[in-house]
Amino acid sequence: MSILTNATRMWLTRSVTPFVFTDRPDRQLFYEECENLGLYVHIPFCRSICNFCPYCKTVYAEETCSRYVDALLQEIHMTGQMLTARKRVTSLYFGGGTPALAADRMKEIIEVIGQYYIITEGIGVELHPDNVTPPLLETLRNAGVTKISIGIQSFQEKFSSILGRGIAEPSVLSAGLKTVPFETISMDFIFALPGQTFEDLKNDIDTAFQYGANHIAIYPFIDFTFTSSTVRPLPKKEKRVLLDRITAYCLDQGYVRTSVWTFSGEKQAVYSSMTRDNFLGFGCSAATLLKDQFKINTFSVEAYISRILAGQLPTSLTLRFTLRQRMVYYLFWTAYSTQVDRADFEKFFGVSLEKMYGLELAAARLLGFVTRQGNVYRMTAKGAFYYHYYENFYTLSYIDIMWGIMRKEAFPKRIEL
Ligand SMILES: C[S@@+](CC[C@H](N)C(=O)[O-])C[C@H]1O[C@@H](n2cnc3c(N)ncnc32)[C@H](O)[C@@H]1O
Ligand code: SF4
Repeated sequence: MSILTNATRMWLTRSVTPFVFTDRPDRQLFYEECENLGLYVHIPFCRSICNFCPYCKTVYAEETCSRYVDALLQEIHMTGQMLTARKRVTSLYFGGGTPALAADRMKEIIEVIGQYYIITEGIGVELHPDNVTPPLLETLRNAGVTKISIGIQSFQEKFSSILGRGIAEPSVLSAGLKTVPFETISMDFIFALPGQTFEDLKNDIDTAFQYGANHIAIYPFIDFTFTSSTVRPLPKKEKRVLLDRITAYCLDQGYVRTSVWTFSGEKQAVYSSMTRDNFLGFGCSAATLLKDQFKINTFSVEAYISRILAGQLPTSLTLRFTLRQRMVYYLFWTAYSTQVDRADFEKFFGVSLEKMYGLELAAARLLGFVTRQGNVYRMTAKGAFYYHYYENFYTLSYIDIMWGIMRKEAFPKRIEL
């Protein structure tokens, strides 16, 4: 598996140099000039821990959560004070964990962010189905939240029990959702679970749109090595058939594919914390991507708080990009939106896309992975499947290894991938 990702990395970066992450963080981050910058805030607490989940989280305790949010506010101040004026950013997303466990501090966090940043495309929060109650939705809405994404996983008992989750009752969700309006109401599902059929997924998709969602995300199940889950994903062939049928069904229903994994039922419904050129992440495990570097904060809540109390950024590892590495990173995440605009690439890097990757693009067109319409390369259904397929390898070769180490060590010295 890592042979495939290593070979691809060497080919696309034209170098044998791996991605080298080291523990020497910057005191200063230079991001004032970054265009298309998004913000992300991580809240690493959950009521109980799901066995399949790879994200940085720990069981909720009120006192720890309160100290954590105090530290988070300090991190936002430290990073914000590096600017000379308030900066326009695209969106702000809260993820976790279960960010709603800090709902009573959400307004405060958003206000501190507002001292340094002007958010132009709304504020999103990930929710557990148990969070979908009128008072909690009201609190979020009053804090300025415009988009919510609910982690359903499956409406069917056989799959939610495989995943060790309770049942999300659609009528209860719908009653809550009707009371407080949001621009985007997204629901997350997991596909490629053992025995899952097209009918199972079609039923989930129909239920989502019928009971209040205007956007859905369908993630392929990934079996992270460090989780305690015993669930094995479907084999490649079955996954492909399933993905093709879900895609065709969603398009047939008039939903618009907004990224490899997401479909939107209404024009204004957008929920994506991934497709930004640059982003700043605050909180444990949050990543920051800038023009020349990628950095990731410590996964340890206590180490995070200690660093902040010592007046330092909680960065655990930093990768300094070579130009080609940055281009590969850019293309990988932009392709997630199912299209790459040549003009955007040229604006970002000052060189034409074809000059850097003309051969690969020609091959991708020949193989039927992409088509070109004017300035835009669009992914075909076949391309989207292979993106999914490759993404699984990427996740297991990079994210799985890195997160696996970072869960155990707050500040590893060096990781080469
Ligand atoms: C942080 S969680 C969502 C919010 C909330 N904590 C919840 O559990 O409902 C983000 C989403 O990632 C997806 N996810 C988590 N673990 C996954 C895995 N092993 N493979 C694929 N998707 C996964 C799930 O769809 C989940 O809703
Ligand atoms: S899936 Fe959600 S609730 Fe479950 S452990 Fe992960 S973040 Fe927490």
